[in-house]
Amino acid sequence: MDLWKAIRERNSIRVFKPDPVPRKLIEKILGAGLEAPSSANMQPWEFAVVCGEDKDKLSRSLLRAFSEKGRDYDFEGKEIQFPPRLLQRRRVFFGELFQQLEDKGLKPKQFVQERTLSFWGAPVIILVFMDGRMAKRFFFDIGTCVQNIVLAAQAEGLGTHLIGLILKFQNTIKAFLQIPLEKRLVVGICLGYPDLEHPLNRYKPNRDRLDESVVWVRC
Ligand SMILES: Cc1cc2nc3c(=O)[nH]c(=O)nc-3n(C[C@H](O)[C@H](O)[C@H](O)COP(=O)(O)O)c2cc1C
Repeated sequence: MDLWKAIRERNSIRVFKPDPVPRKLIEKILGAGLEAPSSANMQPWEFAVVCGEDKDKLSRSLLRAFSEKGRDYDFEGKEIQFPPRLLQRRRVFFGELFQQLEDKGLKPKQFVQERTLSFWGAPVIILVFMDGRMAKRFFFDIGTCVQNIVLAAQAEGLGTHLIGLILKFQNTIKAFLQIPLEKRLVVGICLGYPDLEHPLNRYKPNRDRLDESVVWVRC
């Protein structure tokens, strides 16, 4: 698939088909992540790929932790003040998405939280970690890698949904995977074949114009 087509057509998938993704294809897509640039080529990304009954078990643990404790890990410290322009974009996004869900008779906030912790029904969840001793600026390196994975998946006819809500439950996730608490979970990538007929998968939130985000200097 043409790169521009993949960039333009990608959106967050909210309904996946149950079809499993072949292991070889997952490896190929992760391989695109490994091609990403990173600071001094340190390649700080680490992955856990969970499928099948274990993925469902993990999801159940997350839903339980969510209903019992609300979170098990404080990943941002105190409440962050977002700039008003960004808050306005967030208001528009949730307004549009929640309206679609309400129209289907769903409780939007609860639905989004529970579906996120169920990996939006994807057959594969890729959990992306880095060493917790590394400064937060290395999150950016993970971002380059994750976007390669997302676009490679799109090019292969798969869909993705990035999820950050699970960061609140990273102790549950680390206990489940039996990985050291020092690791830092950065993001989850829900991966699978998208149900392109489903209206929820047609939602593609708008983007602001380029001149909202750029200062040109002598160009
Ligand atoms: C780092 C990151 C974390 C996200 N976390 C969540 C999440 O926890 N739950 C969710 O439903 N969507 C999550 N999203 C999806 C965003 O809401 C979505 O990417 C954004 O609204 C733009 O929509 P699009 O991906 O369809 O273009 C996340 C996206 C990113 C990049």
